[in-house]
Amino acid sequence: MTTGARAARGMGVRALRELGRRVGRQVKCAAVRQQTRSAHSASQGDVRKIALVQGASRGLGLEFASALLERQSDSVVVATCRNPEASEGLARLREVHGPSRVHSVRLDLTDPGSIAEAAERVKRDFTPRLDLLINVSGVLHIPGKMMPETSLARVEYDQMLLSFQTHAMGPALVCKEFWPLLQASARADEAVLPAMVNISARVGSISDNQLGGWYAYRSSKAALNQLTKTMAVEFSRKKPKVAAIALHPGTNDTDLSKPFQRNYPKEKIFAKEFGVRKMLEVIDAVAEEDNGKFFAWDGQEIPW
Ligand SMILES: NC(=O)c1ccc[n+]([C@@H]2O[C@H](COP(=O)([O-])OP(=O)(O)OC[C@H]3O[C@@H](n4cnc5c(N)ncnc54)[C@H](OP(=O)(O)O)[C@@H]3O)[C@@H](O)[C@H]2O)c1
Repeated sequence: MTTGARAARGMGVRALRELGRRVGRQVKCAAVRQQTRSAHSASQGDVRKIALVQGASRGLGLEFASALLERQSDSVVVATCRNPEASEGLARLREVHGPSRVHSVRLDLTDPGSIAEAAERVKRDFTPRLDLLINVSGVLHIPGKMMPETSLARVEYDQMLLSFQTHAMGPALVCKEFWPLLQASARADEAVLPAMVNISARVGSISDNQLGGWYAYRSSKAALNQLTKTMAVEFSRKKPKVAAIALHPGTNDTDLSKPFQRNYPKEKIFAKEFGVRKMLEVIDAVAEEDNGKFFAWDGQEIPW
């Protein structure tokens, strides 16, 4: 055998040994993951029955509320929004599912007092526990008032402030106020892994930013991502366990995306029902080791 062939064979043996070690490690990881999952062996979609949907007046939030009520006959949804009386969609849900299953509560993300009051009201009048919290609200444009910035030259303080209030500061306070109710759920039923889901956007990923623009929206969603990760680190050190994730819905046909749909292939724009069904599949599959991850609607992980 030539020296070159011996070296190649040696490398082949080393590569095989390394592969063996890696497979061993993977088998071990899978076993550990399985053990972690087995702590919550029940399908979370079946056992998470009490949900709070923040931003449920219309769009994806209303669709989340509707889907959660449809899929179990005994599920309960606390639907928060700025003006519950004005939401025809919520009125319809109450009519269809009955007032004992749909509770609406006022909550405005730009008003911290309303967030604390909503938490008090929910605990006092509706439920001491939550199995699922979904922060859905968002703002990208306001007709005649606000459009995403195409250049740094267009950045305005007020637009930045509203975006950060809606996507970062408000949701952080919602998570703070309702975290104890999620923990109460885990204490009440050990089959439940309560989930805190922050609806983000792929454009909030710093490493995925190829196009630039949309300063206020992008940076405030990046802040939401960092908040989610930071909560997840804290949750991982605490008991009972709660899992926090950020979730990108894909492009869905809602008021938020309407002005931008022209530049997007039609077949890639989801009906709300489809987007929410796919996101619920991701949420249902969330296990302890998913705490602190950023997922897309199809379950793929997005880099921060
Ligand atoms: N649609 C998409 O293609 C897409 C893509 C990526 C990410 N997202 C994200 O998905 C989430 C839902 O978006 P959507 O498409 O459903 O938007 P949408 O149809 O425009 O609905 C926006 C929701 O946010 C609420 N909201 C706005 N400001 C609020 C505030 N200060 N306090 C409380 N609620 C407030 C609105 O309530 P009012 O009825 O009171 O205005 C409404 O319920 C957002 O976080 C968005 O960033 C959407």
